[in-house]
Amino acid sequence: MTSAAAKRRLGVLISGRGSNMLALAAAAAEPGFPAEIACVIANKADAAGLGLATARGIPAIAVAHRDYPDKVAFEQAMTAELEARGVELVCLAGFMRLLSPWFIDRWRDRLINIHPSLLPAYKGLDTHARALADGVRIAGCTVHYVRAEVDTGPIVAQAAVPVLPGDTPDSLAARILTAEHRLYSYAVAMIATGAAVVHGDRVDIDPARAGDGTARLFAPALPAL
Ligand code: GAR
Repeated sequence: MTSAAAKRRLGVLISGRGSNMLALAAAAAEPGFPAEIACVIANKADAAGLGLATARGIPAIAVAHRDYPDKVAFEQAMTAELEARGVELVCLAGFMRLLSPWFIDRWRDRLINIHPSLLPAYKGLDTHARALADGVRIAGCTVHYVRAEVDTGPIVAQAAVPVLPGDTPDSLAARILTAEHRLYSYAVAMIATGAAVVHGDRVDIDPARAGDGTARLFAPALPAL
């Protein structure tokens, strides 16, 4: 009798609605997915995603940053929760607190983030409005390992979406969010299977193990003119 390969244990950190967390949960519910969500942690007790995780039977924990005297004390409390549940990979999913060098070093190469732009373009906030103001034709999202400087770090995977005439920040955000939901579970699967391996400042992709996802780009089909 063969036993199924051990699944990589994920800790998902959120601050709000948690739609990327739900997309990861949906992927993890598939029997063949190589990772499982060990816990969801929010830095605010009223984060909507906590209730959504609980409803799916996922341990959901509030570690409210306001309850701690400083950032590192808050991050030590999160780390204790993550370690108590055997978390091997921390996934930031709309986690809107800047992390200290202590936490980033503590989880180095085991901490990833999803960001709503094609990094290194549009780091920071208001990515969709800034992309529209610049008139870009392609926008997207990035999953990357976290390094000390905000929204930098080795890129695991990216998805591109078109910017369409008449787009508003909200309509572009919605289109990118749909891509985020596909991209995050894809990136986690690549890491969990060893198809993506971080080495220093870059992620190496093993094409033999990445399968059809080797392209790593969900480019839109061009319409006929
Ligand atoms: C997502 O669009 C995510 O990329 C973004 O916040 C949203 C969270 O939505 N993250 C950042 O901007 C981080 N800098 P969700 O709570 O529904 O997953």
